[in-house]
Amino acid sequence: MGVGSVLASPAQISPIKSALFSEGDDMKKAAPAYNESGMRIIDITRPWSDQNVNGVDYGWYRIHLNIPKSLVKGKDFADFIQFNLGHIDDVDEVYLNGKLIGKTGGMPGDAGGYQSKWSVNRQYAVKSNDKAINWDGDNVLAVRCYNGNDPGGMFNAQGVTITVPELIEGVSITSGTGKNGKETVTVNNRYDKAVKGTLSIEEVDNETGKVLSQTTHKVSASASKPGVVSNLATSPGSFLRLKFTDDRTGKDVIARSHPKFILTPAAPAAPRFNTAAIYGVRPGSPVHYRFGVSGERPMTFSSTNLPEGLTINPENGALSGSLAKRGDYTFTVKATNAKGTAEQKFTIKVGDKIALTPPMGWNSWNCWGLSVTQDRVVSSAQALIDKGLADYGYSYVNIDDAWEAPERNPDGTIAVNEKFPSMKELGDWLHGEGLKFGIYSSPGDLTCGCYLGSLDHELQDAETYNSWGIDYLKYDWCGYGKKHALEPDRQVTSSYIRPYMLMGEYLRRQPRDIFYSLCQYGMADVWKWGEMVDANSWRTTGDITDTWESLYDIGFNRQAGLAPYAGPGHWNDPDMLIVGKVGWSDNLRDSRLTPDEQYTHIALWSLLASDMLIGCDLSQLDDFTINLLCNNEVNAVNQDILGIQADRDVLDGDIQIWSRPLSDGSRAIGIFNVGTTDRNVNLADYFKQLGITKLQSVRDLWRQKDLSTSDTDYFIPSHGVKFLKVSL
Ligand code: GAL
Repeated sequence: MGVGSVLASPAQISPIKSALFSEGDDMKKAAPAYNESGMRIIDITRPWSDQNVNGVDYGWYRIHLNIPKSLVKGKDFADFIQFNLGHIDDVDEVYLNGKLIGKTGGMPGDAGGYQSKWSVNRQYAVKSNDKAINWDGDNVLAVRCYNGNDPGGMFNAQGVTITVPELIEGVSITSGTGKNGKETVTVNNRYDKAVKGTLSIEEVDNETGKVLSQTTHKVSASASKPGVVSNLATSPGSFLRLKFTDDRTGKDVIARSHPKFILTPAAPAAPRFNTAAIYGVRPGSPVHYRFGVSGERPMTFSSTNLPEGLTINPENGALSGSLAKRGDYTFTVKATNAKGTAEQKFTIKVGDKIALTPPMGWNSWNCWGLSVTQDRVVSSAQALIDKGLADYGYSYVNIDDAWEAPERNPDGTIAVNEKFPSMKELGDWLHGEGLKFGIYSSPGDLTCGCYLGSLDHELQDAETYNSWGIDYLKYDWCGYGKKHALEPDRQVTSSYIRPYMLMGEYLRRQPRDIFYSLCQYGMADVWKWGEMVDANSWRTTGDITDTWESLYDIGFNRQAGLAPYAGPGHWNDPDMLIVGKVGWSDNLRDSRLTPDEQYTHIALWSLLASDMLIGCDLSQLDDFTINLLCNNEVNAVNQDILGIQADRDVLDGDIQIWSRPLSDGSRAIGIFNVGTTDRNVNLADYFKQLGITKLQSVRDLWRQKDLSTSDTDYFIPSHGVKFLKVSL
C-alpha cells in the first residue's frame, strides 16, 4: 500500500501531499498492479528539482486512494468526480487504474511535439459511472510527467484533491461598463442546470469605503441564460460590491466591479524634474542619460557649469560624453518651456558603482515574447518618449529573447536574425535620445526560447555587445541547466556562481558600463552572492504572470526577508511589470490584474526598490496605465537614493505593512489588504510594530495629497493598498 488518503468531508477527499515516485519513462507504471518496490515517497507540493531530482526528463508519480461512494451522495452533480492536480511542470498524462483520464501539454513524442503547459491548473473530471473507479476500494492515480526545463514535476501547495462540484461553484459574477457609462452585472453559471438566488449590489466610495446605495435583485442563471442586471448608474470614484446568494444552499459568491480609476493628479504644464538627482558611471565609460522632466513641449535644456567632457542636447535633455577621473561632479541643469523654468542640482558619481538607483525602462518579453521584432522595439521606445515615460526616468529599452540567428558567424561571433536588421543603428538611435539599450542571452548553449546562448563564446559576446553599444545584459540560466546537471559539484553553490562570474568578468573588461541582470529564478539564494559576481540585479523568483496569484506569491510571499541584500548598485528583481497590454505573443490583451491590484503592484515594486521594467506594448498605452507608471511621488520611493529596500514589518492576517526609510528622513509605508474582503485599517494600531510614536505629516502618494495626522483609519479595498509617506 502506498500513499493513502483520509475522508475529510463527504464532498472532498482531503489534500494528498505526497506520492510514490521514480524517474524514467515506463508505461507499465500506469497499471494498478505495477510493482512499486523501486519507488520512493516524494513531496508533491514542491517541484522535484527542489528535492534532489535534477536533470530528469520523465518521471512517474503513483497515488493510492480510497474513493468513497459517500463523496457523491446528495450532491447537485452526483454524475462526476473531479481530480484537482494543480500545476505540473511541464507536461502530464494522468491514469486512473490504468485508464487515461486527462492530459495537458505535448510530450516530445506526440504528433504536435513538445508543448510546455506548466502554468495550467489541472482539473480532470471522470463520470461517476466510469468503470475505472473502484468505489470504496483502492485506486491508483498514476501521473506520467515530462519536464522540458527545471523546476519539474508536480507542485501544488494545496496538494491533490478530489471533489464533487455543487451548482453554486459554477457561478461567477462579472461586470462591465457600457458605452453609456452605465454598469451591467452578469451572474454566470458554468452548468446547464439553473441556479436561483438573490443578487445584492452595493455602490461603494473607493477612498472612504462608504456605501452610497444598495439594491437587491432576484436572479436565475444557467449556462445558456445568465442573469443580467443592467443600466446601473455609478458616481466617479466608486465601485460595486456584488453578492449572489443561492436560494437552496444559502452559499454566497462575491465579486466587485473594477472600473479603471486614475489617482495620479495631472502634472503641471511648467517643467518639473522627476528623477533622482544622481547618476553613477565608471571612469571613461560613455555617459548615456536623459533628464526626466515633465511639462509642455517644446522644452529646452541647459547648464552653465557642466563638467568638461559632457554635453547636453538642448532639445531632448540627453547628456553624453565621458569623464575620465573618479569623483563627484555636481552641476545645475535648467529646463525651460513656455510655462516656466525649473532647475535641478545634479551629481555624477564617477567610480566603480553604476545603477545607484534601480533601473527603469521597458523589456519586450511580457508583451511580445518570442515574436519581438526591431520595429516593435522601436515603436515602444518611440512611445516611451512621445507618451512622456522618459520624462519620469524610464530609460532602458531591452530586447529579451528571440533576436539571435540560428547559427553564429563563421568566426564564432553571435549573429542577429532577420527580425533585427541592425543592432548598432538601434543602439545609436537610442543613445541619441539619451536612452539605454539592453539585450538578453544565456550562459547555456540555448536560451529558454531555444535561441543561441553564450556558452563557450562569453568573451566574444561581451565584445560584440560593446560594439553594438549595449548597456544592459539579462543573462538567463535556462539551457545551462543541462550542463549543470552533469557537473560533479552541482549540489554546491559555487556551481551556480561559476557561469555568472565568468560573464561578469568579461562585461567588466568592456570600455562601457553594462548593467548586469541575473536571471536564474533565485536558485542557490542568488541574493547572497549576486553582488560578488558584479551583478546589478538578480531575479529572485520564476516568471511572473498577470494574475493576482502570481503577483501575490512573487511580490509578497517571496520578497520578505530579502531587504538586507539590496542597495545602491545591486537590487533584488521580482520580475517585470505586468500592467498595460501584455500577452507573451502576437496576441496582446489588457493585464488581467484589476486596477486595485495594479496600484498594489506598482506601490509594492516601489517599496521593494525593484527594477521597474515595463512589460507592455507602450504604443498601446491607455491613460490609466500612463498615470499608474508616471506618478512622480510614487516613483521617487523606488528611486530613493538611500536604496534601502522595504521589508514586511506587519503580517496580521490579510493585512501586510511594508515600509522603508527615505533619504529625506521620512518613511514610505504601504498598507496592503491581500484578502478577498474590503477592510478598514487603523495605522495607529500598528505604531508599536512600526516604531512610530507620533506622526508629523502623512501624505497619500497615489493621490498626492496630505492627510490628517490624527485620523489614521483607512479604507483599503480587497487586493488594494494605501501608500503613504510619513514624517515622524
Ligand atoms: C525565462 C525568463 C523570462 C524570459 C524568457 C525568455 O527564463 O525568466 O523572463 O526572459 O526566459 O525565453
